[in-house]
Amino acid sequence: MIKRIGMLTSGGDCQALNATMRGVVKGLSNNLDELEVYGFDDGYKGLIYGKYRMLTSKDFSGILTQGGTILGTSRQPFKLMRVPDENGLDKVEAMKQTYYKLCLDCLVILGGNGTQKTANLLREEGLNIIHLPKTIDNDIYGTDMTFGFQSAVNIATNAIDCIHTTASSHGRVFIVEIMGHKVGSLTLHAGVAGGADIILIPEIPYDIKKVTAAIQKRAKAGKRFTILAVAEGAISKEDAELPKKKYKEKLEARAKKYPSVSYEIADQIYKEIGSEVRVTVPGHTQRGGEPCPYDRVLSTRIGAGAAQAIMDGEYGIMIGVVNGKIKRVPLEECAGKLKMVSPKDQLVVAAKQIGISFGD
Ligand code: F6P
Repeated sequence: MIKRIGMLTSGGDCQALNATMRGVVKGLSNNLDELEVYGFDDGYKGLIYGKYRMLTSKDFSGILTQGGTILGTSRQPFKLMRVPDENGLDKVEAMKQTYYKLCLDCLVILGGNGTQKTANLLREEGLNIIHLPKTIDNDIYGTDMTFGFQSAVNIATNAIDCIHTTASSHGRVFIVEIMGHKVGSLTLHAGVAGGADIILIPEIPYDIKKVTAAIQKRAKAGKRFTILAVAEGAISKEDAELPKKKYKEKLEARAKKYPSVSYEIADQIYKEIGSEVRVTVPGHTQRGGEPCPYDRVLSTRIGAGAAQAIMDGEYGIMIGVVNGKIKRVPLEECAGKLKMVSPKDQLVVAAKQIGISFGD
Protein backbone atom coordinates (compact mmCIF):
# COMPACT_ATOMS: atom_id res chain seq x y z
CA MET A 1 0.00 0.00 0.00
CA ILE A 2 1.23 3.53 -0.77
CA LYS A 3 0.05 6.60 1.10
CA ARG A 4 0.66 10.23 0.34
CA ILE A 5 0.16 12.46 3.35
CA GLY A 6 0.46 16.17 3.98
CA MET A 7 1.37 17.48 7.40
CA LEU A 8 1.30 20.91 9.02
CA THR A 9 1.61 22.51 12.44
CA SER A 10 -0.49 25.61 13.00
CA GLY A 11 -1.11 28.19 15.74
CA GLY A 12 1.06 28.79 18.80
CA ASP A 13 3.70 26.10 19.10
CA CYS A 14 4.27 23.82 22.06
CA GLN A 15 6.54 21.01 23.11
CA ALA A 16 6.05 17.59 21.49
CA LEU A 17 4.92 18.74 18.03
CA ASN A 18 7.97 17.03 16.55
CA ALA A 19 7.51 13.99 18.78
CA THR A 20 3.95 13.62 17.50
CA MET A 21 4.89 13.97 13.82
CA ARG A 22 7.63 11.42 14.39
CA GLY A 23 5.02 9.03 15.82
CA VAL A 24 2.81 9.44 12.73
CA VAL A 25 5.62 8.95 10.22
CA LYS A 26 7.28 6.04 12.04
CA GLY A 27 3.90 4.43 12.55
CA LEU A 28 3.25 4.60 8.82
CA SER A 29 6.68 3.91 7.38
CA ASN A 30 7.06 0.77 9.46
CA ASN A 31 3.85 -0.64 8.09
CA LEU A 32 3.54 0.56 4.51
CA ASP A 33 5.33 -0.40 1.30
CA GLU A 34 5.66 3.23 0.35
CA LEU A 35 5.04 6.57 2.02
CA GLU A 36 5.26 10.10 0.71
CA VAL A 37 5.20 12.93 3.24
CA TYR A 38 4.73 16.57 2.28
CA GLY A 39 5.48 19.03 5.06
CA PHE A 40 3.86 22.46 4.70
CA ASP A 41 5.78 25.51 5.87
CA ASP A 42 4.37 27.64 8.69
CA GLY A 43 0.96 26.06 9.09
CA TYR A 44 -1.95 26.80 6.79
CA LYS A 45 0.17 29.46 5.08
CA GLY A 46 2.17 26.69 3.38
CA LEU A 47 -0.99 24.93 2.27
CA ILE A 48 -2.54 28.15 0.93
CA TYR A 49 0.54 29.33 -0.97
CA GLY A 50 1.85 25.92 -1.98
CA LYS A 51 4.99 26.15 0.13
CA TYR A 52 6.01 22.63 1.04
CA ARG A 53 8.82 20.16 0.90
CA MET A 54 8.95 16.45 0.56
CA LEU A 55 10.22 14.80 3.68
CA THR A 56 11.63 11.35 4.27
CA SER A 57 11.54 9.23 7.40
CA LYS A 58 15.10 10.47 8.04
CA ASP A 59 13.67 13.94 8.75
CA PHE A 60 11.71 12.45 11.60
CA SER A 61 14.63 10.71 13.26
CA GLY A 62 16.21 12.31 16.29
CA ILE A 63 13.38 14.75 16.90
CA LEU A 64 11.58 13.02 19.76
CA THR A 65 13.12 15.35 22.30
CA GLN A 66 13.31 18.46 20.12
CA GLY A 67 11.00 21.35 21.04
CA GLY A 68 9.36 23.67 18.47
CA THR A 69 8.35 22.32 15.08
CA ILE A 70 10.54 21.31 12.16
CA LEU A 71 7.80 22.64 9.84
CA GLY A 72 7.42 26.09 11.37
CA THR A 73 4.07 27.52 12.36
CA SER A 74 1.98 30.67 12.13
CA ARG A 75 -1.38 31.95 13.28
CA GLN A 76 -3.97 32.04 10.49
CA PRO A 77 -7.23 33.06 12.18
CA PHE A 78 -10.21 30.86 11.35
CA LYS A 79 -12.47 33.89 10.97
CA LEU A 80 -10.29 35.15 8.11
CA MET A 81 -10.18 31.87 6.22
CA ARG A 82 -13.20 32.81 4.11
CA VAL A 83 -11.87 36.33 3.57
CA PRO A 84 -9.71 36.65 0.41
CA ASP A 85 -6.08 37.66 1.00
CA GLU A 86 -4.64 41.06 -0.06
CA ASN A 87 -4.36 39.81 -3.65
CA GLY A 88 -7.91 38.53 -3.73
CA LEU A 89 -6.90 34.88 -3.35
CA ASP A 90 -9.62 32.52 -2.08
CA LYS A 91 -7.69 30.75 0.70
CA VAL A 92 -9.98 27.77 1.04
CA GLU A 93 -9.92 27.08 -2.70
CA ALA A 94 -6.15 27.52 -2.71
CA MET A 95 -5.75 24.95 0.08
CA LYS A 96 -7.95 22.50 -1.80
CA GLN A 97 -5.98 23.01 -4.97
CA THR A 98 -2.67 22.28 -3.21
CA TYR A 99 -4.19 19.14 -1.69
CA TYR A 100 -5.49 17.85 -5.02
CA LYS A 101 -2.37 18.85 -6.93
CA LEU A 102 -0.28 16.66 -4.64
CA CYS A 103 -2.86 13.83 -4.82
CA LEU A 104 -2.85 13.56 -1.04
CA ASP A 105 -4.63 10.74 0.74
CA CYS A 106 -5.02 12.94 3.77
CA LEU A 107 -3.80 15.94 5.71
CA VAL A 108 -2.50 15.55 9.25
CA ILE A 109 -3.03 18.83 11.08
CA LEU A 110 -1.45 19.53 14.46
CA GLY A 111 -2.94 22.46 16.30
CA GLY A 112 -5.24 23.92 18.90
CA ASN A 113 -8.81 25.17 18.84
CA GLY A 114 -8.58 27.66 15.98
CA THR A 115 -6.57 25.22 13.89
CA GLN A 116 -9.17 22.56 14.57
CA LYS A 117 -11.97 24.82 13.30
CA THR A 118 -10.17 25.26 9.98
CA ALA A 119 -9.44 21.52 9.89
CA ASN A 120 -13.16 20.92 10.24
CA LEU A 121 -13.89 23.44 7.50
CA LEU A 122 -11.55 21.54 5.17
CA ARG A 123 -13.33 18.31 6.14
CA GLU A 124 -16.64 19.92 5.20
CA GLU A 125 -15.02 20.88 1.89
CA GLY A 126 -14.37 17.20 1.23
CA LEU A 127 -10.72 16.77 2.24
CA ASN A 128 -9.53 13.81 4.33
CA ILE A 129 -8.43 15.30 7.63
CA ILE A 130 -6.85 14.03 10.82
CA HIS A 131 -6.43 16.55 13.60
CA LEU A 132 -3.94 16.04 16.43
CA PRO A 133 -4.60 18.07 19.59
CA LYS A 134 -1.70 20.26 20.63
CA THR A 135 -1.69 23.08 23.13
CA ILE A 136 -0.22 24.01 26.46
CA ASP A 137 -3.73 25.16 27.43
CA ASN A 138 -5.35 21.68 27.45
CA ASP A 139 -8.58 23.32 26.34
CA ILE A 140 -9.59 21.11 23.42
CA TYR A 141 -13.00 19.61 23.81
CA GLY A 142 -13.22 15.83 23.26
CA THR A 143 -9.80 14.87 24.62
CA ASP A 144 -8.75 14.54 28.23
CA MET A 145 -5.25 15.67 27.39
CA THR A 146 -3.38 17.65 24.75
CA PHE A 147 0.32 17.25 24.10
CA GLY A 148 2.34 20.21 25.33
CA PHE A 149 0.26 20.66 28.46
CA GLN A 150 2.30 18.57 30.89
CA SER A 151 5.57 20.04 29.63
CA ALA A 152 4.19 23.54 30.21
CA VAL A 153 2.93 22.52 33.66
CA ASN A 154 6.51 21.50 34.47
CA ILE A 155 7.92 24.86 33.38
CA ALA A 156 5.24 26.97 35.07
CA THR A 157 5.60 24.90 38.25
CA ASN A 158 9.33 25.40 38.15
CA ALA A 159 8.78 29.17 37.90
CA ILE A 160 6.59 29.06 41.02
CA ASP A 161 9.16 26.87 42.79
CA CYS A 162 11.90 29.39 42.06
CA ILE A 163 9.73 32.25 43.28
CA HIS A 164 8.98 30.33 46.48
CA THR A 165 12.54 30.51 47.73
CA THR A 166 13.01 34.20 47.04
CA ALA A 167 9.52 35.02 48.34
CA SER A 168 10.26 33.31 51.60
CA SER A 169 13.66 35.03 51.95
CA HIS A 170 12.15 38.46 51.47
CA GLY A 171 8.73 37.90 52.98
CA ARG A 172 7.00 39.26 49.89
CA VAL A 173 3.83 38.85 47.92
CA PHE A 174 4.51 37.49 44.44
CA ILE A 175 2.38 36.95 41.38
CA VAL A 176 3.40 34.38 38.79
CA GLU A 177 1.41 34.96 35.62
CA ILE A 178 0.70 31.79 33.71
CA MET A 179 -0.45 31.41 30.10
CA GLY A 180 -4.12 30.89 29.31
CA HIS A 181 -6.40 33.69 28.14
CA LYS A 182 -9.66 31.80 28.16
CA VAL A 183 -8.94 28.63 30.10
CA GLY A 184 -7.17 28.25 33.44
CA SER A 185 -6.12 24.59 33.33
CA LEU A 186 -2.41 25.34 33.15
CA THR A 187 -2.61 27.86 36.00
CA LEU A 188 -4.67 25.49 38.11
CA HIS A 189 -2.30 22.57 37.67
CA ALA A 190 0.92 24.56 38.02
CA GLY A 191 -0.59 26.51 40.92
CA VAL A 192 -1.41 23.36 42.82
CA ALA A 193 1.87 21.66 41.89
CA GLY A 194 3.87 24.73 42.91
CA GLY A 195 2.00 25.23 46.17
CA ALA A 196 0.54 28.63 45.25
CA ASP A 197 -1.61 30.17 47.98
CA ILE A 198 -4.03 31.92 45.66
CA ILE A 199 -5.04 30.77 42.17
CA LEU A 200 -6.97 33.07 39.83
CA ILE A 201 -8.39 31.62 36.62
CA PRO A 202 -10.84 32.95 34.00
CA GLU A 203 -13.51 30.40 34.89
CA ILE A 204 -13.71 31.57 38.52
CA PRO A 205 -13.96 35.38 38.60
CA TYR A 206 -12.24 36.93 41.62
CA ASP A 207 -13.16 39.61 44.10
CA ILE A 208 -10.05 41.65 44.92
CA LYS A 209 -11.24 42.03 48.53
CA LYS A 210 -11.29 38.24 48.88
CA VAL A 211 -7.80 38.11 47.41
CA THR A 212 -6.43 40.66 49.87
CA ALA A 213 -8.29 38.96 52.73
CA ALA A 214 -6.51 35.70 51.84
CA ILE A 215 -3.14 37.49 51.88
CA GLN A 216 -3.90 39.08 55.24
CA LYS A 217 -5.11 35.80 56.70
CA ARG A 218 -1.77 34.23 55.82
CA ALA A 219 0.14 37.15 57.31
CA LYS A 220 -1.89 36.86 60.52
CA ALA A 221 -1.07 33.17 60.68
CA GLY A 222 2.61 34.12 60.65
CA LYS A 223 3.33 33.26 57.01
CA ARG A 224 6.03 35.52 55.60
CA PHE A 225 4.92 35.44 52.00
CA THR A 226 2.07 34.74 49.62
CA ILE A 227 2.27 33.43 46.08
CA LEU A 228 -0.50 34.01 43.58
CA ALA A 229 -0.72 31.96 40.37
CA VAL A 230 -2.67 34.19 38.01
CA ALA A 231 -3.86 33.16 34.55
CA GLU A 232 -3.40 35.68 31.72
CA GLY A 233 -7.17 35.74 31.39
CA ALA A 234 -8.04 36.09 35.09
CA ILE A 235 -11.08 38.30 35.43
CA SER A 236 -12.74 40.11 38.31
CA LYS A 237 -16.36 39.42 39.23
CA GLU A 238 -17.19 42.97 38.24
CA ASP A 239 -15.63 42.60 34.77
CA ALA A 240 -17.23 39.21 34.27
CA GLU A 241 -20.64 40.89 34.46
CA LEU A 242 -19.85 43.34 31.67
CA PRO A 243 -21.17 42.82 28.14
CA LYS A 244 -18.42 41.49 25.85
CA LYS A 245 -17.98 44.82 24.04
CA LYS A 246 -17.62 46.82 27.26
CA TYR A 247 -15.11 44.32 28.64
CA LYS A 248 -13.08 44.58 25.44
CA GLU A 249 -13.01 48.36 25.83
CA LYS A 250 -11.91 47.95 29.43
CA LEU A 251 -9.08 45.66 28.36
CA GLU A 252 -7.95 48.21 25.78
CA ALA A 253 -7.90 50.91 28.44
CA ARG A 254 -6.06 48.61 30.86
CA ALA A 255 -3.40 47.84 28.26
CA LYS A 256 -2.42 51.54 28.27
CA LYS A 257 -1.71 51.38 31.98
CA TYR A 258 -0.57 47.84 32.72
CA PRO A 259 1.28 45.24 30.62
CA SER A 260 -1.15 42.55 31.81
CA VAL A 261 -3.79 41.63 34.38
CA SER A 262 -1.18 40.67 37.00
CA TYR A 263 0.20 44.21 37.17
CA GLU A 264 -3.30 45.55 37.69
CA ILE A 265 -3.92 43.05 40.47
CA ALA A 266 -0.53 43.91 42.01
CA ASP A 267 -1.49 47.58 42.03
CA GLN A 268 -4.90 46.85 43.52
CA ILE A 269 -3.34 44.74 46.29
CA TYR A 270 -0.91 47.56 47.09
CA LYS A 271 -3.71 50.11 47.19
CA GLU A 272 -5.95 47.90 49.35
CA ILE A 273 -3.47 46.62 51.95
CA GLY A 274 -0.15 48.32 51.25
CA SER A 275 1.73 45.13 50.33
CA GLU A 276 4.32 45.57 47.63
CA VAL A 277 3.84 42.89 44.99
CA ARG A 278 6.40 41.57 42.53
CA VAL A 279 5.23 40.10 39.23
CA THR A 280 6.98 37.32 37.31
CA VAL A 281 5.86 36.37 33.81
CA PRO A 282 7.47 33.18 32.45
CA GLY A 283 5.61 33.87 29.18
CA HIS A 284 6.69 31.89 26.15
CA THR A 285 9.23 29.87 28.09
CA GLN A 286 6.13 27.82 28.97
CA ARG A 287 5.93 26.68 25.35
CA GLY A 288 9.65 26.18 24.91
CA GLY A 289 12.29 23.55 25.41
CA GLU A 290 12.01 19.82 25.20
CA PRO A 291 8.84 17.84 25.81
CA CYS A 292 8.63 16.10 29.19
CA PRO A 293 8.52 12.28 29.25
CA TYR A 294 4.73 12.29 29.73
CA ASP A 295 4.29 14.29 26.52
CA ARG A 296 6.74 12.13 24.61
CA VAL A 297 4.68 9.09 25.53
CA LEU A 298 1.37 10.83 24.77
CA SER A 299 2.67 12.08 21.43
CA THR A 300 3.92 8.66 20.48
CA ARG A 301 0.50 7.18 21.27
CA ILE A 302 -1.35 9.92 19.39
CA GLY A 303 1.04 9.66 16.44
CA ALA A 304 0.68 5.89 16.26
CA GLY A 305 -3.10 6.30 16.60
CA ALA A 306 -3.12 8.67 13.65
CA ALA A 307 -0.99 6.27 11.59
CA GLN A 308 -3.46 3.48 12.27
CA ALA A 309 -6.43 5.66 11.31
CA ILE A 310 -4.68 6.57 8.04
CA MET A 311 -4.04 2.90 7.28
CA ASP A 312 -7.69 2.17 8.07
CA GLY A 313 -8.74 5.06 5.83
CA GLU A 314 -10.75 6.72 8.60
CA TYR A 315 -10.74 10.50 8.37
CA GLY A 316 -12.63 13.52 9.63
CA ILE A 317 -11.42 12.84 13.14
CA MET A 318 -9.27 14.08 15.99
CA ILE A 319 -7.05 11.52 17.70
CA GLY A 320 -7.81 12.20 21.35
CA VAL A 321 -7.48 10.49 24.71
CA VAL A 322 -10.64 9.54 26.55
CA ASN A 323 -10.43 7.76 29.90
CA GLY A 324 -6.83 6.89 29.25
CA LYS A 325 -7.48 5.33 25.85
CA ILE A 326 -6.66 6.69 22.39
CA LYS A 327 -9.92 7.55 20.69
CA ARG A 328 -11.00 8.70 17.23
CA VAL A 329 -13.29 11.66 17.91
CA PRO A 330 -15.37 12.96 14.95
CA LEU A 331 -14.32 16.53 14.17
CA GLU A 332 -17.91 17.63 13.81
CA GLU A 333 -18.45 16.70 17.49
CA CYS A 334 -15.56 18.69 18.90
CA ALA A 335 -14.68 21.55 16.52
CA GLY A 336 -15.56 24.99 17.84
CA LYS A 337 -16.02 23.87 21.44
CA LEU A 338 -13.76 24.85 24.30
CA LYS A 339 -12.95 22.64 27.29
CA MET A 340 -13.00 24.92 30.30
CA VAL A 341 -12.25 24.27 33.96
CA SER A 342 -15.46 23.68 35.85
CA PRO A 343 -15.59 25.52 39.17
CA LYS A 344 -16.73 22.13 40.50
CA ASP A 345 -13.69 20.32 39.06
CA GLN A 346 -12.31 17.85 41.62
CA LEU A 347 -8.94 19.61 41.54
CA VAL A 348 -10.56 22.97 42.33
CA VAL A 349 -12.48 21.35 45.18
CA ALA A 350 -9.32 19.66 46.52
CA ALA A 351 -7.34 22.89 46.24
CA LYS A 352 -10.00 24.79 48.17
CA GLN A 353 -10.09 22.02 50.75
CA ILE A 354 -6.42 22.50 51.53
CA GLY A 355 -6.90 26.25 51.87
CA ILE A 356 -5.98 27.60 48.44
CA SER A 357 -8.06 30.69 47.68
CA PHE A 358 -9.59 31.31 44.27
CA GLY A 359 -10.61 34.80 45.29
CA ASP A 360 -14.28 33.91 44.85
O1 F6P B 1 -2.74 28.96 22.92
C1 F6P B 1 -1.46 28.84 23.42
C2 F6P B 1 -0.98 30.12 24.02
O2 F6P B 1 0.33 29.88 24.48
C3 F6P B 1 -1.83 30.71 25.14
O3 F6P B 1 -1.70 30.08 26.37
C4 F6P B 1 -1.33 32.12 25.12
O4 F6P B 1 -2.27 32.97 25.73
C5 F6P B 1 -1.15 32.41 23.67
O5 F6P B 1 -0.91 31.16 23.06
C6 F6P B 1 -0.02 33.34 23.34
O6 F6P B 1 -0.04 33.58 21.97
P1 F6P B 1 1.15 34.23 21.12
O7 F6P B 1 2.24 33.21 21.03
O8 F6P B 1 0.54 34.50 19.81
O9 F6P B 1 1.61 35.43 21.87
